[in-house]
Formats: sequence, structure tokens, C-alpha cells
Amino acid sequence: MASKIKVINLVGARPQFIKASAFSRALNARSSEFEEVIVHSGQHYDENMSDVFFSELGIDPPKYHLSIGSGKHGAQTGLILKRFEEVLESEKPDVVVVYGDTNTTIAGALAAAKLNIPVAHVEAGLRSFNSEMPEEINRKMTDHMSTWLFCPTDTAVKLLRDEGISHHNKDNTPNRPYVVNTGDIMLDVALWTSKTNQVKVDLPEKPYVLFTLHRNFNTDNPERLRNILDAIIELGQTTKVVFPMHPRTAKAIPPNLMEELKDSGCKVLDPLSYMTLMSYVKGASIVITDSGGLQKEAYFFEKPVIIPRPETEWTGMISVGCAKTVDDDGDLLVSTVQQWIENPPKEFPELYGKGESAVTMVDIIARHFKK
Ligand code: UD1
Repeated sequence: MASKIKVINLVGARPQFIKASAFSRALNARSSEFEEVIVHSGQHYDENMSDVFFSELGIDPPKYHLSIGSGKHGAQTGLILKRFEEVLESEKPDVVVVYGDTNTTIAGALAAAKLNIPVAHVEAGLRSFNSEMPEEINRKMTDHMSTWLFCPTDTAVKLLRDEGISHHNKDNTPNRPYVVNTGDIMLDVALWTSKTNQVKVDLPEKPYVLFTLHRNFNTDNPERLRNILDAIIELGQTTKVVFPMHPRTAKAIPPNLMEELKDSGCKVLDPLSYMTLMSYVKGASIVITDSGGLQKEAYFFEKPVIIPRPETEWTGMISVGCAKTVDDDGDLLVSTVQQWIENPPKEFPELYGKGESAVTMVDIIARHFKK
């Protein structure tokens, strides 16, 4: 039998554990053709930001842990680049899979591309057109280095074409990439979770709003942070709010504001496991979040989403009237919640495929190596 296709599945931050779990399952289903090596950069390292996702989502423990931890963008990216290159040199994989738009994504793609190892970018083609966000830089650069660009929507395919990245059917390289709408891998995971979720959660009585905030675009700007949290405090007078708090946000909120938030009745929680968070999403009336992943999960479970950012990469759900960007306008945030509690959007058309994207991606890679 020909040797197996060796795939490095590179993860580092919370949303990547979720996406990689689906990819891993699709690889395992074809274990006679593929060998998987999981590498964890260590960007997220707390038990509740990392380990719990591996156990709940059934991901094998990583063969390599790069232990890069927290740091400034350059330091974090540089450390991954250096340590991941060593892994690549010893493992000599056929493919490196990277996810989304984090510092782990760009560093992993760059290390691999420089060694001429083809990169598969899952969640390619997203753009916010906000170049102040580190994520926008990461996703753009990664797309331009990748051989397989697995887009979650047709819009993403089109945005890539606008940047001169168009589809080639064969002889794929970063100059002749394979660009395709595979649907959204997070839908694969959400559907799998719906079947397997055994976690019992003591949810608040309905109606309640689920709120998260973690983008440094919001947390590192005191005025934006204050405006958004003031709106949440005001909302607390009429509506129950649950707020699982990312460590970045916990560090950024000054003590007096944290006090006000808790006094308003807002239920502040530590970061939640994936299954627990999904239970909260399913019970919520509305989700308010700056997380791209949670925006979609809310949509999958037919919950309207309010986005405290000036824009979003996930424009489809705005076009169909199920999501709204409110920037840091507190009045707009509060009035949108009130409007949607009374009269929520009813139609959530299929925007993100059918939940079979990981199987499609693995099949495309397998076919490439069979040629
Ligand atoms: C990163 C990604 C972002 C993604 C998010 C998911 C980048 C540039 N950003 O943002 O795109 O949406 O992950 O959560 O890669 N921290 C802990 N414990 C942890 C992890 C982080 O305390 O386990 C603290 C760190 O000390 C750091 C802060 O949280 O100060 C931010 O962590 P970092 O990995 O830099 O970025 P995220 O904000 O999580």
C-alpha cells in the first residue's frame, strides 16, 4: 500500500479546537489513507480555554505542544514560527491545516509555506475590511500563502477572486490554488454536538440574553469597552444577561466597572466549555457577541445576533435580517434587544452549507494526492 498522506492539524486558540475536531473526525474516518499529527501552539493554555475542548470534542491529545503562551503579537507569532518550523522539519508532513485568523494561523501557514509544504486554510476568504484588527491581517496573509482555500460561503470565494485568488482545478500550489465553497465547518460541529451533548446546564429562566466580548478591538479601547458595558448594565434593568468572560476581557475591565456590571444583575461566568456554551445558546432569546464563531452558532440555532463591532465578516446573516452590527452605540444595542425580544426574526435561511464540510475538504485533499 502507498504511504499515508501525513496531515498536521495545527491548533492554538479556542475556536480552532472546535473546527479541528470536525476535521480530525473526517481524517479518522479515512485512517487507511491519512496519518494525522496534532500540534497545539499553546496560544490558549488555561484548562477552560483549551483542555476541556479536547476532552469534550473527542480530539486526540496533541503530539507536540509548542507552549508559546501569551505575548505581544510579534512575539507570539515569532515564537510559533520558530518552534513550528522545527516540528515541520522533523515530521515532514504532506499538508498543514490551519484554521481561521489567529496568530497561530498566520505563523503556521508562514512556516509551512516557506518550506514549500502545502497549506490548507479552513475558513478562507473572510474579510472585515477593518485593517485595525489583527485578525484581518492574519486571514489575508494566510489566504495568500495557501494551496487549498476552503471557504465557508460563496461570498468568501468571491472576495478571494477580487484579490486575484481564483480557482485552479489541478497542479495546485499557492500560485494555482484550489478555491472552493465547502460550507462552514462549525456547522459540522454544531450538528454533531446536537446529537452528542450530554452536559446538564442549569439555565436561567427565559427570556435571557447571552453576551460575550473578547476582541482586542473592543477590550483594548477603554471608551469602546465602557460604551458597550454601559449598555449591558442598562439592559440588566429589564432583561437577564449571561456573560461568560474571556480572560482578556476580565483583565481589561477596571474594578469599578466590573462591580457595576455585577450589581446590574449580569451573570458573569468563567469561560464555558463548548457543550455548555451551546446549551446557553439554545436557551437564549438573543446573542450579543463580537466573536465570529458564536455569531454563526447563534444563527445555526436560529437566534438573532447583535454584533458590537462596526462590521462583521459574516455579512450573510445581516442581509437576511437575523444579525445587526451596532458598533459601540449603547442606545442602538438596547433598543435592538427590546425590539427582537418582542418581535424576533423568524426565517434563518441556509447560508453555511449542510454540515458536511470537513468530509468534503478531506476528500479534496485525498484526490490531489491520488493524481
Ligand atoms: C485570539 C485570536 C482571536 C480569536 C480568539 C478566540 C489572535 C490575534 N486573536 O484572541 O482571533 O477570536 O483567540 O478566543 O490570535 N489568556 C489567558 N488564558 C488563556 C488564553 C489567553 O489568560 O488560556 C489571556 C492572555 O494572557 C492574553 C489574553 O487572554 O492577555 C488574550 O489572549 P490571546 O491569545 O492573545 O488572544 P485572544 O484575545 O484570545
